[in-house]
Amino acid sequence: MKDFQGKTAFVTGGASGIGLSMARAFGHAGMNVVLADVDVAAAKEAAGRLASEQIKAVAVRCDVTERAAVRAAALEALAAFGKVHVVCNNAGVAVGGPLGTVRERDWDWIIDVNLKGVVYGVETFVPLIRSHGEGGHIVNTASMAGMISPPGLEPYCATKYAVVAMSEGWFQQLAPLNIGLSVLCPGFVKTRIHESGRARQDKYGGIGDVDPGVAETREQAAQNVLSGVDPDIVGRCVLEAVRNGELYIFTHPAMRPFVEARFQMILAAFDAASNAPALAAVKDHNPVTLLTPQVQP
Ligand SMILES: NC(=O)c1ccc[n+]([C@@H]2O[C@H](COP(=O)([O-])OP(=O)(O)OC[C@H]3O[C@@H](n4cnc5c(N)ncnc54)[C@H](O)[C@@H]3O)[C@@H](O)[C@H]2O)c1
Repeated sequence: MKDFQGKTAFVTGGASGIGLSMARAFGHAGMNVVLADVDVAAAKEAAGRLASEQIKAVAVRCDVTERAAVRAAALEALAAFGKVHVVCNNAGVAVGGPLGTVRERDWDWIIDVNLKGVVYGVETFVPLIRSHGEGGHIVNTASMAGMISPPGLEPYCATKYAVVAMSEGWFQQLAPLNIGLSVLCPGFVKTRIHESGRARQDKYGGIGDVDPGVAETREQAAQNVLSGVDPDIVGRCVLEAVRNGELYIFTHPAMRPFVEARFQMILAAFDAASNAPALAAVKDHNPVTLLTPQVQP
């Protein structure tokens, strides 16, 4: 997408952190912005701040764990600005903990927000973007935790790997429809993600229900977040990637060795498979016709 002027961006989790910074970047590029957040008071305050920067911004209540709520927020965005062109499925929460300690309601919460929230956003907005015929772009916020899996962060990583996987497939499905797609994979960014329990809904235990992560690990995670990069840098990075139609958006190039180490382990396992006696009879079996042309080697 090259032309942003007068178009509209809808950002979930837009009241804070990376969402607010993406909204700010799109706003300064001439877009109207909709801050959609479960914390509508914070979203209204953030919209006021953007308005003081001459950005046309509105706040709408939106709990991304409810498909109907995402639909209702989309209709509010249309009522405010007529059309939506850019959708940032960004709302997210963090849960961690040693194996066996993560409770059912922690799993439900993180899967519903981080994974199903993205599904609801894409399924709600793709038909709306198609209907105006001007094209658009979707940005799904994953994480470096969608590329590598540090111990103790499995619930978070499971949802972020899922966002990367869905994004890779949707990128291909949407390209012929004139809808671009990017998946944002930041490292640590200075936001309030370490306090994500502040938005925890009653159905997942409510505000103040603390996940089972070990206190020291939680403290370390908070320190990492607080020493992270300025979210406005991430927002500007996303704007450029959308302009250039890039699928993957990395904001921490110094983390490349972690991804390389993982890929090297995977490639070494393929080498082992090539030499495995048990696979000798089938090692040339390669059902490439199951894959779409874009991902064939
Ligand atoms: N901060 C980091 O270091 C970092 C790194 C990689 C990825 N991320 C991802 O970035 C995204 C944004 O997080 P952030 O770091 O800006 O944190 P943040 O806590 O500052 O902002 C998250 C926003 O999402 C909102 N939210 C939470 N649950 C919601 C729901 N059910 N419906 C709608 N809104 C909801 C919160 O109210 C908040 O405004 C998340 O997906 C997070 O996983 C963050």
